[in-house]
Amino acid sequence: MSVYLDNAATTPLDPEVFEAMKPFMISDFGNPSSTHSHGRKVRAAIESARKKIAELLNCTPGEIIFTSGGTEADNAILLGAVDTFNVKHIISSPIEHHAVTHTLEILAKKGRAELHMVALDERGHVDLSDLEILLKKYPGSMVSLMQANNEIGNLLDIKYVSDLCEAHQAFFHSDTVQAVGHYRHDMRSLRVCGMTAGAHKFHGPKGVGFMYIRKDKKIHSFIHGGPQERNMRGGTENVYGIIGLAKALEIAYRDMDEHARYITKLKAHMIAKLEETIQGVKFNGDSANLERSLYTVLNVSLPASDENDLLLFNLDLQGISASGGSACASGAAKGSHVLGALYPESKRNAVRFSFSKYNTVEEINLAVSVLAGLCKVKV
Ligand SMILES: Cc1ncc(COP(=O)(O)O)c(C=O)c1O
Repeated sequence: MSVYLDNAATTPLDPEVFEAMKPFMISDFGNPSSTHSHGRKVRAAIESARKKIAELLNCTPGEIIFTSGGTEADNAILLGAVDTFNVKHIISSPIEHHAVTHTLEILAKKGRAELHMVALDERGHVDLSDLEILLKKYPGSMVSLMQANNEIGNLLDIKYVSDLCEAHQAFFHSDTVQAVGHYRHDMRSLRVCGMTAGAHKFHGPKGVGFMYIRKDKKIHSFIHGGPQERNMRGGTENVYGIIGLAKALEIAYRDMDEHARYITKLKAHMIAKLEETIQGVKFNGDSANLERSLYTVLNVSLPASDENDLLLFNLDLQGISASGGSACASGAAKGSHVLGALYPESKRNAVRFSFSKYNTVEEINLAVSVLAGLCKVKV
């Protein structure tokens, strides 16, 4: 049996999404920029996909710009906002995704802006009073803080942070790649200036996503070329990707409550089973807290032992696909910068399990028993 528990890395495509994409791979092949009927038909489909996404997010279609995914969207917003608003100070955290941290490091290295890291508490949550201190100290800055951490699942209250940023005239970018499609976003009440999504995190196709840019926070474009995407992103559109993205989001919203309940139950079951079967098991960040973490992610911390060293490899050999990262940043295994920031001294092993609507209790039971077999540790 093969068990896929790495849904934070990517999710399987929903067959319903594939059906929606198919015509645009074969018969409806026109270039949306062409003015003839082949092109106009495809243009209409793209605009209706944009409108659908805007309806779901309660924003205007003009605020949705299609990209090649989350990484491009994060880069475009961060680089664009610093350039457009002449940002001199950036506030972020050490546990953001590399699409954010590496982009910010380049901006800092080039001397475009100074980078300030907000304090985190012992569970990896942003210290909101420290954020307020930084916002007061550096008015007019850019803040980049993710809504849901892809490794430990910690959730940020983006409504609170967006209001706080607005009160201090800061541009607030949130990497929402792990949250879009799993939580609802009402852009008329959230004061987020820019946020990002990747379709493959919610059963859509890979290589497509979008950025939301609030209409009063328009930024300079990142990819120069033709006038596509309202001059915000040159290049012929990934038509079937965009159609698949909109369909995947529509399904995600349609079934969200049911799937959230189901997946949360799987996660709670796995926590209980792990605690029952593996001595000394712990959970990284706040991922075992069902209220304050992404319901799709559980990051398990296991006592260090020699047998544990090849944990992911051995899990894979026994048919369990999960992902890892230890706090250790030396040697061949580079380790996780998130766990490294939270637990710099830890020698424990870490495995991230992440779930989707397609997982079952039987799969969770199997994963736990395989993991328990690999963790015969003395504590
Ligand atoms: C939090 C977060 N941001 C950004 C990305 C990058 O998204 P994409 O793979 O669509 O470029 C990911 C993907 O792993 C992610 O988890």
